[in-house]
Amino acid sequence: MKLRNGIGIAATLFTFACGALAADPVKIGLILPMTGPFAAYGKQIDHGVRLYLAKHGDTFGGRKIELVVKDDAPGTAGDVSKRLAQELVVKDKVDILAGFGLTPSAFAVAPVATEAKKPMVVMNAATSAVTTKSNYIVRVSMTLPQITAPVATWAAKNGIKKVFTVVADYGPGHDAEGQFKKTFVAGGGEIVGEVRVPVKNADFAPYLQKVKDTRPDAVFVFLPAGELGVSFVKGFRERGLEQAGIKLIATGDLTEEESVDAHGDAAVGVINSFHYAEAHASPENKAFTEAYAKAYPSDRPNFMAVAGYDGMHLIAEVLAKTGGSVDADKFVDTAKGMKWMSPRGPISIDPATRDIVQTVYVRKVQRVGGKLQNVEFDHIDEFKDPGKQ
Ligand code: PHB
Repeated sequence: MKLRNGIGIAATLFTFACGALAADPVKIGLILPMTGPFAAYGKQIDHGVRLYLAKHGDTFGGRKIELVVKDDAPGTAGDVSKRLAQELVVKDKVDILAGFGLTPSAFAVAPVATEAKKPMVVMNAATSAVTTKSNYIVRVSMTLPQITAPVATWAAKNGIKKVFTVVADYGPGHDAEGQFKKTFVAGGGEIVGEVRVPVKNADFAPYLQKVKDTRPDAVFVFLPAGELGVSFVKGFRERGLEQAGIKLIATGDLTEEESVDAHGDAAVGVINSFHYAEAHASPENKAFTEAYAKAYPSDRPNFMAVAGYDGMHLIAEVLAKTGGSVDADKFVDTAKGMKWMSPRGPISIDPATRDIVQTVYVRKVQRVGGKLQNVEFDHIDEFKDPGKQ
């Protein structure tokens, strides 16, 4: 009797323990700039993640999702991001690290993910090398070489012979500059000038004058999405570079939907390449943009919102496939080769690099129904990061 009772109690405890385990939430630590100059990055990614949960429910593989957001403003200070990641692991006991608006943040947190054995889902930071910094990183956003090569090819094929490049002086800018040069020169073009501008410096006057004096056919520009780009485009028009016959070409960071209204008509005609446009015509994007407009009526969805949405999809799918496991090795193995239809088009995770494979579109900024949009007119399908080759 005593023994039977003992077994009975043990069985009850076992059932209780398993029940409690199954009900344990999966905690995702989102490290994002929520204030400061890059606050829009955090806002858009956070919107995308929450929109996914609102649409698809918040329980996957039997486990509920719990989000813990940490503001790593300004987003460019690696030590801040790293300290927050350590806090999330040790104090908040998160299972997954995610977010990462800017490259310095992702670089700084990578060793924490490796050491703590936590999956790390990168939702923006786009320097090619990010995914090489930890075997637990999976990226759902883009890489700078990936979104730069198509506009370089377009330029070489469309009568542009001489280009001056202007990039932000940090990882993504160096990647953009290097890839533009490689692709454009291989296509028969010539680089007639290169400048790297400080990420914090919004005074483009001296650089623009230098570009004007050099008289290239076009300026290629990469600047992290936001105010820097707005001030560059303003200066470009005010200093008469357009009248001097100089074209403006860019990665889509310059004309993304969070900033394009601030450019106004100054952005019309800018040719750029990118992986997401609010105007992308597909049933998935129609559903996404409509849901976004309903949930966040004062914002326009941009590439970061889609990366947040897709990043949450990746986590949800992995949990569904593994029955709720957050083991980092299992997580990454399950994510490798995963394919799905994103609002941006078809995407997959390269099993060799854990990086995103996607369609990259060449677009032209136009007014559509009164709204400034990036109108796609060409594309490269299943494009892997050329920066890894
Ligand atoms: C980055 O820091 O990796 C980054 C930030 C903003 C962009 C693209 C890349 O628009």
